[in-house]
Amino acid sequence: MARVYIYRKFERFWHWTQAILIFYLALTGFEIHGSYSFLGYEQAVKSHRVAAWMLLILIAFSIFWHFTTGEWRQYIPTFSKLKAQIRYYTVGIFKGENHPTRKSPKSKLNPLQALTYLGFKLVMAPMLIITGLIYMFYRTIDANNMVIISDIPLETIASIHTLGAYLIIMFAIVHVYMTTTGETPTSNIRAMITGYEDLETDDDSSKATDTK
Ligand code: HEM
Repeated sequence: MARVYIYRKFERFWHWTQAILIFYLALTGFEIHGSYSFLGYEQAVKSHRVAAWMLLILIAFSIFWHFTTGEWRQYIPTFSKLKAQIRYYTVGIFKGENHPTRKSPKSKLNPLQALTYLGFKLVMAPMLIITGLIYMFYRTIDANNMVIISDIPLETIASIHTLGAYLIIMFAIVHVYMTTTGETPTSNIRAMITGYEDLETDDDSSKATDTK
């Protein structure tokens, strides 16, 4: 085992800020949806819109970061060991078997994580962002007579947006459970806070030296 620097500063900032914003957007979004009353409808709408803009700015920076650092490659799905990973989470983990894949700074995500996070980035997030922006500018777009949008009723946009919200909440629940399946129940969460994680390694070059 060696202490390895695995999550850089921006990555940790982006991860936790995104988590807080999504939690806040879910809280205010379901108030707008009418599920409960907490801030009051007007305030919930205002807060949801502000948080949505903050998330969009954060996402813009994170896209830039992923491409300039080459970290986007972490999300390229590989199908070798995918079956082994699914078997591990459904059977092996309960028998105390070892993880079928090894984590390293160059390969932080196991095949199942890479596939799920790619789905998050390419399906769930765009679904919420696109419908959210249409929702936000619906009246403006309508006033300008943009046929494509005005043909779609606002209820449909709201339903797709809400479906995206349910999907992202399901993702968050599974994601939090998965974070407890590391070397110890808190090792993955601690790594996302400090940047460092104790990992199995037979290569000295990946040991902690980077302090960015
Ligand atoms: C950048 C992303 C997002 C944008 C631009 C956005 C935008 C919006 C807008 C404009 C509304 C309507 C509020 C109004 O009447 O003005 C809304 C409603 C809502 N949002 Fe979002 N939102 C985003 C992300 C999220 C996320 C991440 C969630 C949940 C995790 C969420 C959940 C909801 C829900 C449940 C509603 C109520 C839908 C309804 O029944 O009318 N939104 N959103």
